Amino acid sequence: MNQKVIDALNAARMRELGAVSQYLEQHYELEDQMYGKLADRLKDIGIQEMKHAEAFAERILFLGGVPASKPDVVAQKGQSIAQMLQTDIGLEEAAILMYNDSAKLCRAEGDNASADLFEDILKQEEGHLDEFQNKADFVKDLGQAYLATLVE
Ligand SMILES: [Fe+2]
Ligand SMILES: [Fe+2]
Repeated sequence: MNQKVIDALNAARMRELGAVSQYLEQHYELEDQMYGKLADRLKDIGIQEMKHAEAFAERILFLGGVPASKPDVVAQKGQSIAQMLQTDIGLEEAAILMYNDSAKLCRAEGDNASADLFEDILKQEEGHLDEFQNKADFVKDLGQAYLATLVE
C-alpha cells in the first residue's frame, strides 16, 4: 500500500466533495431565483464531480485505503451569479493544479493507473474551467442581456 498515492487520491476526493456541495448549493439557489438554465448546468456539473469523487473512492479502496468522506471547503452561499462563477473558476483552477501534481507523483511512485485516473479527470476539470470562464466573460461583457438567457 502506497500511502503517498492514497493521500493524494483522498485529497482529490475531498476536493470533489467540496465541488459537489458548492455546485449543488448554486443549483438550489439559482433554481429558486428562476435562473433555471444555469441551475440545470450546475446540477449536471455537480453530478460529474460526484462521479469523480466515486472514481477516486473506488481507486482508494482498490489500493487498500479508506476513502475520506468530508469536503475540503464549505460551500459559499448567497453569491451573485458573477461571484458564483468566480468561486467555481477558483475551485476548478485549484483542482487542475492539484491533479497535475498528483499525476506526476503517482508516476514517480510507479502507479500509472492512478496517474491515468488523475489525468482523465483533469481533462474534464479543464472543460469545466473553460465553461465557467466563458460564462464569467459573458456576464462581464453582456451583463443583463446574457443573464436574461439563463432564465426559465
Ligand atoms: Fe471533478
Ligand atoms: Fe470540475
